[in-house]
Amino acid sequence: MNKRQFIKTFAAANLISPVFGRDFENILSKFEQQTPEQMAQNEDFWAEIRCAFLIKPDYINLENGYYSFAPQETLEAFIGHVREVNFQGSYYMRTRQFDDKADIRKKLAVLAGCSHEELIITRNTTESLDSVIAGYDWKVGDEAVMAMQDYGAMLDMFKLQARRYGIVNKIISIPNHPKSDEEIVELYEKAITPKTRLLMVCHIVNITGHILPIKKICEMAHAKGVAVMVDGAHAFAHLDYKISDLGCDYYGSSLHKWLSVPLGAGILYVKKDRIAKLWQLFGDMGYKDDDIRKLNHTGTHPVHTDLAIANAIDFHQKIGIQRKEARLRFLQEYWTKKVRDLPNIVLNTSADSQRACGIANVGIKTIKPADLAKTLLEKYKIWTVAIDYANVQGCRITPNLYTSTAELDTFVAALKELSR
Ligand SMILES: Cc1ncc(COP(=O)(O)O)c(C=O)c1O
Repeated sequence: MNKRQFIKTFAAANLISPVFGRDFENILSKFEQQTPEQMAQNEDFWAEIRCAFLIKPDYINLENGYYSFAPQETLEAFIGHVREVNFQGSYYMRTRQFDDKADIRKKLAVLAGCSHEELIITRNTTESLDSVIAGYDWKVGDEAVMAMQDYGAMLDMFKLQARRYGIVNKIISIPNHPKSDEEIVELYEKAITPKTRLLMVCHIVNITGHILPIKKICEMAHAKGVAVMVDGAHAFAHLDYKISDLGCDYYGSSLHKWLSVPLGAGILYVKKDRIAKLWQLFGDMGYKDDDIRKLNHTGTHPVHTDLAIANAIDFHQKIGIQRKEARLRFLQEYWTKKVRDLPNIVLNTSADSQRACGIANVGIKTIKPADLAKTLLEKYKIWTVAIDYANVQGCRITPNLYTSTAELDTFVAALKELSR
């Protein structure tokens, strides 16, 4: 089957929408008088966007936080890159690969709001942030600050530095329902001592969806001479911001989460004046010490994934980050508002619109998180993930752009029944 026949077949089966093709402008033109907030509530528009995805009918997928599978047009472009790289073989790898990747890095830097000289493409957040943690020139007694709600892989990497170099890790706990930004900033501030060298903080806490006041934390930490590394695994292409506006020193994210790149792509941002002091994990002496590319020598890798980043950005930009953020927040608030005050329900996510966007976490007092996730899947055909640590007991709920309010109604009905 050639590409034309393939598209025709799928379109005939109504699996591919006008969005997976040429009519997006047309669809958008019908709605473009509306603000992102008005559009967020317009199910007709999002029904069109839903058609851009091939959705598995077996369950309602409310677990996009791990991996937001790609829309069909990105997937098709990705498969095209796989074919092309395979067709060209080592010729591609020795010639065009470098220019193509350089172009994509520049395109990503524009999206991220930083200089491309401060950004590299990695495989994921883990690689990005672990490269920073392990690239530090740690001395015995140095301190690092982090939260128990941070991601396990990074917490483990700090534990390894403690074993290897004798650093001291100060671990705070972030409340699920803070009264103000200042309450959060103060928690981090209190953990800082004259020995603190690095503070790690999540832009969005993955288990609760809590958006943290990164800029204020950076200002506080910098005033005390402490560098800040932000775990932006869930914020990139989810919230509307520029990395350069946050004021952080290091930033890592995964592009297979909210940008919907096929699996295995991430970014690492290192502020220009911090690059020279960071040791590379993978040996590369070909670049100057202050060239971020020295951190990027991970060997031969699936370059077709990197090529698909450009296609994912194109899809993302057709929708626009303001519309995307507004829709994701609307979806979260749509279901949380319906269950927040019910007896037995525990919302582990703030009701304040500025403190959460698409991600939220809900528990039922009488049901263990693992049992709740199992029942949701087996009885109600709803796919979620159970969280049971760091003062968070519940299921993490992560809808995506293709999620409909009708699907969320099913979820709300299930919660109501189970909490009775
Ligand atoms: C907050 C946070 N940081 C880091 C990661 C790691 O992402 P990856 O596995 O793509 O490296 C995740 C994954 O879910 C996460 O939620």
